[in-house]
Amino acid sequence: MAEDKMLVFVPPHPLIKHWVSVLRNEQSSCLIFKNALAELGRLLLYEASRDWLPTITEDIQSPMGVASVEFIDPREPVAIVPILRAGLALAEHASSVFPVTKTYHIGIARDEETLKPTVYLNKLPDRFPHGSRVIVVDPMLATGGTIVAAIDMIKERGVDNNNIKVVSAVAAPPALEKLSDKFPGLHVYSGIIDPTVNEKGYIVPGLGDAGDRSFGTL
Ligand code: URA
Repeated sequence: MAEDKMLVFVPPHPLIKHWVSVLRNEQSSCLIFKNALAELGRLLLYEASRDWLPTITEDIQSPMGVASVEFIDPREPVAIVPILRAGLALAEHASSVFPVTKTYHIGIARDEETLKPTVYLNKLPDRFPHGSRVIVVDPMLATGGTIVAAIDMIKERGVDNNNIKVVSAVAAPPALEKLSDKFPGLHVYSGIIDPTVNEKGYIVPGLGDAGDRSFGTL
């Protein structure tokens, strides 16, 4: 049944807390930061896909006899949509978490003055196949401009709110409020929720610029 509210999950796992702490630490090097983002993404993608992946049942022969088993349905790949740049690091392990995936990149830059998003790369299909499940991967849900633009683009291509999940490292109230107003039924998975966003659009205490810290461009 379609849900009428957005739900936000912060999975209470000690490894998730650990990787968020490594990300927050300004002493973490680029290599350590990027690895922490990838590990956090692995755990959050796993949590986000619980009860969500279609399976097929088959009989297989084990060394000890015949067993009725379930496999992930290879005809229904999960669509992963990383938002460049830092989404690349958070989505790094998606293809090892999921047996079948398709990855569609979106590049969205935020104007430093106006904080308005501009799309500079769009590898989405013209239309997603009916019933597609899409996970949008964006580490920092701050003012919400970028993630709302990305979900609008996915919805324009035929995907319902209930079939979209968002995976983020840190989420803040302005983005969560916008998502909840615009996309009832959406599910958001985040490593942590922080209290505020500053006047420059950065989450506080947050972890700084996730793209620059992942790719050493500070
Ligand atoms: N993007 C980032 O990389 N960090 C923030 O705090 C907000 C947006």
